[in-house]
Amino acid sequence: MSSDLFKRITILVGVALLALAFISMFAYDVIKLDWVSFMEIQPAFQPMYNPLPVPAGSIPIDGSVYVPSEGVPANPIPAEAASITRGMELYHINCIHCHGPLGKGDGTVAIYLQNKPANLTGLPVRALSDGGIFLTISDGIQGKMPALNENLTVRERWDVVNYVRSLK
Ligand code: HEC
Repeated sequence: MSSDLFKRITILVGVALLALAFISMFAYDVIKLDWVSFMEIQPAFQPMYNPLPVPAGSIPIDGSVYVPSEGVPANPIPAEAASITRGMELYHINCIHCHGPLGKGDGTVAIYLQNKPANLTGLPVRALSDGGIFLTISDGIQGKMPALNENLTVRERWDVVNYVRSLK
């Protein structure tokens, strides 16, 4: 009788140990399960996608920016060599893949785009004011060019404007 009890306890402990070993395989990454993640199906604000409108009565603290009632902003940054050099570096990070190394609209991804990037040296862009280019960079063009106001500070945008202006 007591040997029967011993046998039962041994089997019980054995089963418990096996179960523990099995469970720890999950913890130690022996068995890897991709847990369902619901992060991507939550409502979310994507970057560069429908930027929130500026609340009424806001005042820009970051230099000249677009205030709807005040029309196109004036360029506060003189087109000096330092600004143009900075603008060139930022252009090479943010614009070159679409607008191309010389602004001709022939960047490496341009062939894949349905709406071709503008030639920044062409007449239509040269006819834009500095503020007009600033607004294009800030707000993008719906369905064609992304808004880059989250990638570039106000100052950086004006540097890029000065660089675009220097393209011939
Ligand atoms: C994803 C590609 C893409 C990127 C990145 C991009 N652009 Fe554009 N851009 C476009 C396209 C496409 C158009 C042409 C839209 C059209 O046909 O009106 C355009 C048009 C423009 C125009 C002309 C706007 C007008 O009113 O005619 C300017 C100026 C411009 N881009 C500047 C820039 C600058 C400066 C940057 C970087 C800070 C930049 N773009 C980044 C795709 C891009």
